[in-house]
Amino acid sequence: MRPPCGTGASGPAAAARRSARPRAARSGRGPGRPAAAAPAAPYRGGAVAAYEKWRGTGVPNEEVSTVSAVSSRLPVFPWDKLEPYKATAAAHPDGIVDLSVGTPVDPVPEPVRRALADAADSPGYPTVWGTPALRDALVSWCERRLGAVSFAHANVLPVMGSKELVAWLPTQLGLGAGDRVAYPRLAYPTYEAGARLCGAEPVVYDDPVTDLDPSGLKLLWLNSPSNPTGRVLAREELARVVAWARGHGVPVFSDECYLELGWEAEPVSVLHPDVCGGTYEGVVSVHSLSKRSNLAGYRAAFVAGDAAVLGELLTIRKHAGMMTPAPVQAATVAALGDDTHVAEQRARYRARRRALREALLKHGFRIEHSEASLYLWATRDEPCWDSVAHLAELGVLVAPGDFYGGAGEHFVRVAFTATDERVEAAVQRLG
Ligand SMILES: Cc1ncc(COP(=O)(O)O)c(C=O)c1O
Repeated sequence: MRPPCGTGASGPAAAARRSARPRAARSGRGPGRPAAAAPAAPYRGGAVAAYEKWRGTGVPNEEVSTVSAVSSRLPVFPWDKLEPYKATAAAHPDGIVDLSVGTPVDPVPEPVRRALADAADSPGYPTVWGTPALRDALVSWCERRLGAVSFAHANVLPVMGSKELVAWLPTQLGLGAGDRVAYPRLAYPTYEAGARLCGAEPVVYDDPVTDLDPSGLKLLWLNSPSNPTGRVLAREELARVVAWARGHGVPVFSDECYLELGWEAEPVSVLHPDVCGGTYEGVVSVHSLSKRSNLAGYRAAFVAGDAAVLGELLTIRKHAGMMTPAPVQAATVAALGDDTHVAEQRARYRARRRALREALLKHGFRIEHSEASLYLWATRDEPCWDSVAHLAELGVLVAPGDFYGGAGEHFVRVAFTATDERVEAAVQRLG
């Protein structure tokens, strides 16, 4: 069996071997632990490390070993590394400007709040597939906004925020050791986490058509507009990749959660007939209301496309109880039916983006891509942690590019999800 994820220990056989070893030996650092079973750094069990830290001993014990098997496949959670820089930025006399995480800061739109409140009396279980009203709303939004044609309820499925879908999709597709999951070289880290969670092999690409061997490839992630680079794939490019993937029987999942946030390019969905030819075989797009409607706190998202794939996911998710709460379903209907708040939010982001972009350029940064999304992908052609440290001294916190892959080691990701007042503070400090 292929040892996935560089841990050298996974799958049923490895699990059996693990449970045959003494518990202390399974803890990750106990005496008698065979060297060959060591998770290769930096994939040492996150849960173990967290537990040791919490206990303050640094020494694993008996209880710890029972939680380490799956988490040891995952990379160390990188955001902890940013903490010292956050402390530096927070020491600025006028306070921190935190541009590191793309979390919305503006109010939840009024019609959405009202819909949530109106649905507060929801004592019964919601359904995984959602109310007929929600499915109608998803279908009509896909047709109206993405250009999908002949869509039906079977082509949509709500999920509880797109992150859980990204993380658990490979598992729900039945992938495991010996299967491969591909995603862009610079990417949202959860594509890799999803592959590792099920024991599949993560592979990165620059161009899927020329870089990937389709044998054993069971899932191809696209992400346009991209996090972190803000790059938008042109419709011809998307069509070329979809045709190649279909030709090799590889399902395409296209993460389009920044689709409403194009600035210098118009993002196109894989569901557009120019890309998929008006049929959805092997093609699914992933959408989220977190960014377009400031609903990150609601966990409102959905997938849309190939009815056969979604039917399988629906069955699994029913068994797993993965239901969007009823008030959030009602809020989603309201949000998808209202374009006014999207236009207002876009205007806020457009102004913040312009201000930060100019300030970063004046300060000596170069900006690549960034034609869409909530981020500026910036560099001073120096190691990303030097840029992070420099900006932290000015009280501005950004994310190092290497969080998104080694190819980002000379870039920082600057989110424009801060209030106007904080963005203005950043502009002053950079000026
Ligand atoms: C590319 C990408 N996909 C998915 C997500 C998850 O969004 P959510 O879980 O809020 O829908 C994010 C969040 O930042 C993202 O950047």
